[in-house]
Amino acid sequence: MAVGEKKTTLDLYDNPFYYEVAFSFRDIGREVDFFERCLRKFSKIKVKKVLDIGCGPSPYMLELAKRGYAFAGLDLSKAMLEYSLKKARKAGVKIKTIHADMRSFKTREKFDFAFCMLGSIAIESNMDFLSHLDSVAGCLRSGGLYLIDASINFDWTSIGSQSWTVIKN
Ligand SMILES: C[S@@+](CC[C@H](N)C(=O)[O-])C[C@H]1O[C@@H](n2cnc3c(N)ncnc32)[C@H](O)[C@@H]1O
Repeated sequence: MAVGEKKTTLDLYDNPFYYEVAFSFRDIGREVDFFERCLRKFSKIKVKKVLDIGCGPSPYMLELAKRGYAFAGLDLSKAMLEYSLKKARKAGVKIKTIHADMRSFKTREKFDFAFCMLGSIAIESNMDFLSHLDSVAGCLRSGGLYLIDASINFDWTSIGSQSWTVIKN
C-alpha cells in the first residue's frame, strides 16, 4: 500500500491484474509519443535505458520495448513487479525490476530517462520529496530527464469510495 493509504477490502496493488483492467482506458501509444516529444525537447542525452518509478503492472513497458528502449520498473509492491516480469517474459522482452521505496533508493545501474505516471508520486512531505529527487538524480545519467505525470491528484482520504466500471475486452 502507498504511504497514507487506507486499507480497502481489495488492495489493488496486491492484485495487478485487476489494477491493469481498471486503468486500461489509457492510450499508451499516444502517451509514449508524448514521452518522446518531451525527450526531443528537454533531454540532453540520447535515451536507451528507461526507469519507470512506481511502475505497477508496467503499462508502458511493451510499447517502450517495441520502440527499442531497455525497460526497468521500480515498485514497492512485489506483486506488481512479479506481474510485470511475467508479462515481459510472455512477450519475449527482457526487463529489470527494482524492489524499492521511491522515497529513498539507489540503483546499481544508471538510466537515461525516468518517469512516474498516473499520480504515483507516493510522497507526503517536502523532506521525502527532496529525498526522492536526490534518489532519482542519483540513478540518472547527467543530462537525463525525469518526467512526473501529476495529472491525477488522488484524494487519499477518499480512496475506497471511488468506483468505476471497466470490462476487459
Ligand atoms: C497508481 S499505481 C501506478 C502504476 C503505474 N505507474 C501506472 O501508470 O499505471 C501506483 C504504484 O506505485 C507503487 N508505490 C506506492 N508507493 C510506493 C513507494 N513508496 N515506492 C515505490 N512504489 C510505490 C504502488 O505499489 C503502485 O504499483
